[in-house]
Amino acid sequence: MASNKPRVLSGIQPTSGSFHLGNYLGAVRQWVALQESHDAFYMVVDLHAITVPQDPAELKANTRFAAAQLLAAGVDPERCTLFVQSHVPEHAQLGWIMNCLTGFGEASRMTQFKDKAAKQGAERATVGLFTYPILQVADILLYQADQVPVGEDQRQHIELTRDLAERFNGRFGQTFTLPAPYILKETAKIYDLQDPAIKMSKSASTPKGLINLLDEPKTTAKKVKSAVTDTDTVIRYDAEKKPGVSNLLTIYATLTGAGIPELEQKYEGKGYGALKTDLAEVMVEFVTPFRERTQQYMDDPETLDSLLAKGAEKARAVAAETLAQAYEKVGLLPAKH
Ligand code: TYM
Repeated sequence: MASNKPRVLSGIQPTSGSFHLGNYLGAVRQWVALQESHDAFYMVVDLHAITVPQDPAELKANTRFAAAQLLAAGVDPERCTLFVQSHVPEHAQLGWIMNCLTGFGEASRMTQFKDKAAKQGAERATVGLFTYPILQVADILLYQADQVPVGEDQRQHIELTRDLAERFNGRFGQTFTLPAPYILKETAKIYDLQDPAIKMSKSASTPKGLINLLDEPKTTAKKVKSAVTDTDTVIRYDAEKKPGVSNLLTIYATLTGAGIPELEQKYEGKGYGALKTDLAEVMVEFVTPFRERTQQYMDDPETLDSLLAKGAEKARAVAAETLAQAYEKVGLLPAKH
């Protein structure tokens, strides 16, 4: 069904059993809000997940877990198209075309690749990891997305998407919409609770600063209470001088809807302990029903799978049309009987 709402598209990897708080605050929360006003496409990017070594049984389970968590967070298949990337073969097909348009040097400049390759040892990094951003370009362009709701770490991939869309359009004629990043300043980058100089990520050297949404609420409370702050005791937002406290305030404000000045006032004259104890409670109140809802979806895999199959059908209708146009523009001979 054609819609004249602007279109958004985004994806999340099923690389670990649980989403972390950065995924939720930086991206998924915005997905839920945007499905009300936009024609939204959201997917679990399993093809991206195999760019690093994976266990097949775990990947399958984690793909379901990712879908279940999106549903638990409020992504609603009645309001958006929710699907699994590998169910729509057009992603890999357009990915190839985009590979053939990308310069080797251009791909080499992708900072996420450099970081991930450095972590694994450059020798062990696969070509799939190298071309990962180009598959992401295909993900976005297939749906002619206007906006892409993500965290700050994805900005460079969206810039690449715009560059390649422009290049394709310039060379072969207008085909692709140039997408804009949709990155909310406040939550663009949620930091590790133990090291507020680095973003919260599942690949951090210690799990102590990582809030997994599906962890035991007790574990989560403990992690919040032992978050690193600084040596003075003033509760004030100052991302540069007080990154730890500022990160906690961002999380607190976003989860409760309170303004940061309001929180600063509330905790005036109180120590970090009070802030952390209250935030731990806020977190527990958030994750407890989230875990329960996720488990309910996981308990009924048939319903989950059929919902994803329906989503893939809707997604394919759009993706196949775009791919056919791209093939035609590039000059690939159509098969005709
Ligand atoms: P992924 O799976 O690493 O992360 C999913 C989303 O979570 C955001 N995010 C964060 N936001 C704020 N603070 C953090 N600490 C934090 N950590 C993660 C990410 O920015 C992302 O929005 N390449 C993508 C998946 C992808 C995609 C796409 C996204 C594949 N195709 C097409 C958009 C459009 C990724 O690895 O996300």
